[in-house]
Amino acid sequence: MYIPRLHPNTIEEVKQRADIVDVVSEYVVLRKRGKDFVGLCPFHDEKSPSFTVSPAKQMYFCFGCQAGGNAIKFLMDVGKRSFAEVTLDLARRYQVPVQTLEPEQRQELQRQISLREQLFEVLASTAQFYQHALRQSADQKALQYLKSDRLLKEETIQQFGLGYAPAGWETLYRYLVDSKHYPVQLVEKAGLIKPRKEGNGYYDVFRDRLMIPIRDIQGRVIAFGGRTLTDEQPKYLNSPETELFSKGKTLFALDQAKSGISQFDQAVVVEGYFDAIALHAAGINNAVASLGTALSLEQVKLVLRYTDSKQLVLNFDADKAGNNAANRAIGEIAELAYMGEVQLKILNIPDGKDADEYLHSHSPEDYRQLLINAPLWLNWQIDQILKDRDLKQATDFQQVMQQMLKFLKRIQYPELRKFYVAYCAEILSLGEAGLVRLREENLETQLSSTSIKTEKKPITVQEKNYISTQSPAPQSDRSLLEQAEALLLRIYLHCSEQRQSIINELEARNLEFSLSHHRSLWQKILELPVEQVDLISNLQDRYLEFSEDFSLVSHVFYLNEKSKTDDILRIPQLVQAASASMERVMRKKRYRYFLELWQETDFKAEPEKWQSYYQAFYSEKLRLQELDRQRLFSITDLL
Ligand code: UTP
Ligand code: MN
Repeated sequence: MYIPRLHPNTIEEVKQRADIVDVVSEYVVLRKRGKDFVGLCPFHDEKSPSFTVSPAKQMYFCFGCQAGGNAIKFLMDVGKRSFAEVTLDLARRYQVPVQTLEPEQRQELQRQISLREQLFEVLASTAQFYQHALRQSADQKALQYLKSDRLLKEETIQQFGLGYAPAGWETLYRYLVDSKHYPVQLVEKAGLIKPRKEGNGYYDVFRDRLMIPIRDIQGRVIAFGGRTLTDEQPKYLNSPETELFSKGKTLFALDQAKSGISQFDQAVVVEGYFDAIALHAAGINNAVASLGTALSLEQVKLVLRYTDSKQLVLNFDADKAGNNAANRAIGEIAELAYMGEVQLKILNIPDGKDADEYLHSHSPEDYRQLLINAPLWLNWQIDQILKDRDLKQATDFQQVMQQMLKFLKRIQYPELRKFYVAYCAEILSLGEAGLVRLREENLETQLSSTSIKTEKKPITVQEKNYISTQSPAPQSDRSLLEQAEALLLRIYLHCSEQRQSIINELEARNLEFSLSHHRSLWQKILELPVEQVDLISNLQDRYLEFSEDFSLVSHVFYLNEKSKTDDILRIPQLVQAASASMERVMRKKRYRYFLELWQETDFKAEPEKWQSYYQAFYSEKLRLQELDRQRLFSITDLL
């Protein structure tokens, strides 16, 4: 998609309106800790949360991998998208009017945006039309079907906005195009009508079907599923993929289920529309349906946002076709389960019933009990391995052991694997406690000899926060410079009351930032007024907008052990100490330079030169001593 450059006003407004907590929590489960929120970092593997989001600063930062930035940066990194793309998306989401730099571009953009809005409108109109038709049609057979065959209450029919698509070929077409004057192309783009193959004109996609609106997370209708009331095939007809609807990225009823999912800290995923509807009607309102396909990673991530413990119960018809069906349904989630990133449970309803059928003859409490008893998928797999085996028979024992090894090899998260090794060893020891340890060792050796070692991530270098760590001595000039410059930049960014004194110090000492990444940041700082309010996010945007490498300076944008460090940064002498350190590096070079010249100069041949070099290096030496005094204040352990 072509994306024009946005007007700075638009970018600014997007930043004002987009809330970092809001944005991040779509991807990360956040918990409140003090003023901030914490969660597991989406940018690197971790088991305990070091990813922090500050609503006050509207920034996030990971103490584990140093990823950090504002809402825009987060979306860019997490979705590998460009600055413009992300900003535009946020503009849409937060209803910020979009201005671009050139007027032609603006038109193109408005066109794209308004296409989506218009599609939403057509679909909402259509949903109303179908709802109306459910009660208007002469024999009300669809309504009857809902009430008597599916045992739905009026309340549930309303809640899900169920409807009926009349039997004619052009009923909806006439309503939308002739009466409501929606452009034909728009209605076609909404997936509601199709051009006739022969002759002119269009016909309705959904005819004589019970209509189930599919909504996005915000509850807007984006598509429909239509069930036949006869034996016609297909049983369910779904909207085609459109600008608004993508089957693999949508979960039916998530808009209704999201609060239930956070409340129960668990999501139930079923196969059918009516399974989800029946569960909600039974008060089990943490249920969503997968639209009849294997669960995609995107769908899973969608629900996992709402559960802290990442518990997902899959209620699929696994019994029908056995093990393979379950594995197919699990699809891409398997990896997540082996990594320990989702607690995947399997619910098999007895007699191969689906949730809807089950609830016709059982109470909601019965279903809840099934949920409670649902085994973890990992345990369930072991049960499958053991099915119809007799471990006392040598061949069965061997085969079970081999299958267990195969299973264990897939588990990538070490702690989890350790747990299941013990679990399998327990089973293989057939109740003889004395054997467990032996079996465990057995499994371990076989695993380590055959398995490809799971790849170790390189250890992330913690941000060197020299405020809290000892500086390694002796320190090279380069690292002294790096740290002193970084400290000054850090103070400048975080303590506005110190900004002027930093500028003064640098001027008085005739100092420049010498490391190029610092110099480039400093230039950007000087382009903004000293009293700039949201300096940090402003600067970050510049980096993003010009896609400049931010990684070398990102650490100065954040504080470790925040409040503590914040106070330390406010000590006025720190500015002096840091600039003294910078000056020291410069002076030392000059000192060496003059010293060498002096040593090379022959006093008898050039007495005046000799004299002036001597004075030069000597005054540098005195200055160095003075600088060390300035740095002495608390600086030994700071710089
Ligand atoms: P099922 O065929 O398992 O049936 O479809 P069901 O949901 O129990 O249907 P009822 O109870 O007879 O009404 C499961 C889901 O698969 C998708 C639908 O989302 C359906 O709810 N599906 C099924 C289709 O998209 N198309 C089909 O033709 C069939
Ligand atoms: Mn069913």
